[in-house]
Amino acid sequence: TELVFSGVQPTGNLHLGNYLGAIKRFVEMQQRDAQCLYCVVDLHAITMWQDPQALKGQIREVTAAFLAAGIDPKRSIVFNQSQVPQHAELAWIFNCVARLGWLNRMTQFKDKAGKDRENASIGLYDYPVLMAADILAYRATHVPVGEDQKQHLELTRDIAQKFNNDFAQSILAHGHGEQFFPQTEPLIGGPAARVMSLRDGTKKMSKSDPSEYSRIALTDDADAIAQKVRKAKTDPEPLPSETAGLAGRPEADNLVGIFAALRGITRDEVLKDFGGAQFSSFKPALVDLAVETLAPIGAEMKRLVADPAYIDSVLADGAGRAEAIAAPTLDAVKDIVGFVRRG
Ligand code: TYM
Repeated sequence: TELVFSGVQPTGNLHLGNYLGAIKRFVEMQQRDAQCLYCVVDLHAITMWQDPQALKGQIREVTAAFLAAGIDPKRSIVFNQSQVPQHAELAWIFNCVARLGWLNRMTQFKDKAGKDRENASIGLYDYPVLMAADILAYRATHVPVGEDQKQHLELTRDIAQKFNNDFAQSILAHGHGEQFFPQTEPLIGGPAARVMSLRDGTKKMSKSDPSEYSRIALTDDADAIAQKVRKAKTDPEPLPSETAGLAGRPEADNLVGIFAALRGITRDEVLKDFGGAQFSSFKPALVDLAVETLAPIGAEMKRLVADPAYIDSVLADGAGRAEAIAAPTLDAVKDIVGFVRRG
């Protein structure tokens, strides 16, 4: 059976890349006959300094974004990582499975640590191991994410495989199948697996870009969306009539990809309508589409964050249901590793 897991960091500035690359696809996964768990990963957030007062608000805001986008907290499990202790517990055991050489290859650590690597937190370095624990505490089979998480999901598969090998005999002795941890499938795809900055088509749209004009926030109003799209960098050529013509035109490719993802169609289908069009006519169509999609989500997010007691009750309910899945896994892991459990 399918079990879907994914997470979003509560680090502020949720943007169109998070929505199209991840959250919109979380909603689509609910349509499949799978149990879905969607996690606000606060333990991951503190790998970089977070203001404690702001962090609480950011956790509730990501939760609100999940709900506003259409995740149903009855059907899916919506929760907050720090409320389920099994994540951190399994991460420690995985720390003893993962190899230093594997983590040294992680490109996101290099990007986030920057030049002053000696001063990065150990947590930032260990980030991908905690991510493997998030996924494997539920023995998740599918993980919808943006393209930037691909390397982390490969590490998750490596950790699962090494655990299965290192403890093969004990796994069998405790009556489990050989594949105690599954080889989790990343679900990366669609036209918006990697949404780029509106200011530079070669840079990823990101929460940490100092320019507000580089990203469309989920809470932007119609005016802000219109301004940002109008100012988005483009080239002087009209749009091509097929996808191949977007090669070497990163900004055009990005805007067409965003349009396609918002409409739920392919780039080629967008270009059937807009091939030969100038940006002066394509951009207003993109603004209309973005506003139509995002305005109701932003409005619902604002309504929900005004009721923190409701958000907190959703998180508490989700944590209980998540823990009911993760706790038996951790009990089994402790037996397999050779710990003596409290009866
Ligand atoms: P985070 O919070 O950085 O991003 C949340 C999701 O948004 C996707 N994303 C993008 N997709 C397309 N274009 C972009 N420009 C863009 N920017 C971000 C990310 O790929 C992600 O899917 N490590 C994760 C959080 C995490 C997690 C997990 C995910 C922790 N544990 C377990 C899956 C499974 C992260 O950094 O998300």
